[in-house]
Amino acid sequence: MTDNQKFSVSAEEREKQKEYMLLAGETVLSLFGPSPKAFVHTYGCQANVSDSERLKGMLSEMGFGFTDVLEEADLILYNTCAIREHAQDRVFGNVGALKNLRLAKKNLRIMLCGCMVQQASVAEKIRKSYSFVDVIFGTNAGHRLPEFVYRTLAKGEKICEIPQGDGFICEDLPVVRDSSFKAWLPIMYGCNNFCSYCIVPYVKGRERSRDPRLIIEEAENLVKSGYKEITLLGQNVNSYGKSPSFGYDFSRLLREINDIEGDFIIRFMTSHPKDCTRELLDTMASCSKVAKHLHLPFQSGCNRVLKEMNRGYTREKYLELLNYAYSVMPELSVTSDVIVGFPGETYDEFCETLDLIRQSRFTSMFSFIYSPRPGTKAAAMPDPVPEEEKGVWFRELLAVQEEIATKRTSETVGKTYRVLCEGRSKQGLVSGRTGGNVIIEFPGGDDCIGTFRDVTVTESLTWILRGQLCN
Ligand code: 5AD
Ligand code: SF4
Repeated sequence: MTDNQKFSVSAEEREKQKEYMLLAGETVLSLFGPSPKAFVHTYGCQANVSDSERLKGMLSEMGFGFTDVLEEADLILYNTCAIREHAQDRVFGNVGALKNLRLAKKNLRIMLCGCMVQQASVAEKIRKSYSFVDVIFGTNAGHRLPEFVYRTLAKGEKICEIPQGDGFICEDLPVVRDSSFKAWLPIMYGCNNFCSYCIVPYVKGRERSRDPRLIIEEAENLVKSGYKEITLLGQNVNSYGKSPSFGYDFSRLLREINDIEGDFIIRFMTSHPKDCTRELLDTMASCSKVAKHLHLPFQSGCNRVLKEMNRGYTREKYLELLNYAYSVMPELSVTSDVIVGFPGETYDEFCETLDLIRQSRFTSMFSFIYSPRPGTKAAAMPDPVPEEEKGVWFRELLAVQEEIATKRTSETVGKTYRVLCEGRSKQGLVSGRTGGNVIIEFPGGDDCIGTFRDVTVTESLTWILRGQLCN
């Protein structure tokens, strides 16, 4: 049995949900009239954003349009994140603020789903302390949204469905995409790596890869519909199709998507250094449509800490990989993630992280102070360094990265980049991204938006660039 068969939602379940879809549609129409509105908000990573596009697809099929104004909504759905405590606190705060709205509107429904509520203890806390929330459903139940909408609206049921298990792949869900020219394309779900600090494997289930034919078909359709950027998503795209029965790997998938005719670019994230091979870097280098941007989280520059994190590589292996990547793609832009203050990390060990940053020439970095996640291995490790001290280290790290980014971006002044124009900045300039994923802003008309333009860099501002249109 292939991965896809093992993880597929059964045909009976799909049929059942299609029936619920019709029933939910009728109920929504009778309660809210012809233009019901849903407010959908996503916390966390791109995988969640992509999942929400499917949730919106289902809501749209039930008749809902969408609003950004909470007070206008007939249904409020928060797709939540559990990666750090701060992310959870934000959700709790924002959900708490919905209480009066819910009490004032009899037919309003509040739904919470995703990673945060997949944790049994959190689901329990919401049931007890936020009893005005109508529906809670975990990461293994997203495809059952039609059922939940029907049961809560037609029957007035309070629902809490957090099925445990390895997770599903549900292929035939409708989708409402947030953009008409940039698309998220999930190629796999879940994670098997169990980095000791990380909650993801517990809340998003086992790693499972989508059928390559369906991914390629989706990419072809996106290009035909005018999409200019496709970002392939997975927690660790380098292990796509890793099970022996699959017979297909990420490099091959990249090459085949690169072969699709049309004017578009391909991005992917996230890469894991332990599975990132020279073959993949060679493939990136040789595929003209693949953006020369690699997001390669290193997390720590200290071998002892990396081992405790269960990352499966050393700092030497990481630096060697980067050197090879820069040797085959001199223009490559590398971004990364780093954690400061992992349990037991000493200041000297933290300095090894600073040293790795100095050697790596990252374009930008996402830096996080370690946040204990209940149930993970690291949460049980002794953690003697006080939070204030970690804050001091964190600011030191930001200063080092700022210095490096300033130098890197200033080197781009005078160069010309092909830029996908995305929208407008606060100052009214056109805002887009270079292949290296650096934001560049420049004067230009609305006709630029959603197209590629050549832009020459005139000024660098640490993290972003200013430029001038060439054409
Ligand atoms: N504490 C702090 N940062 C974390 N990350 C994942 N788990 C934690 C945690 N418990 C960071 C990692 C990962 C990014 C998505 O979030 O750097 O790459
Ligand atoms: Fe978390 Fe590690 Fe999986 Fe990334 S690879 S999602 S950090 S467990």
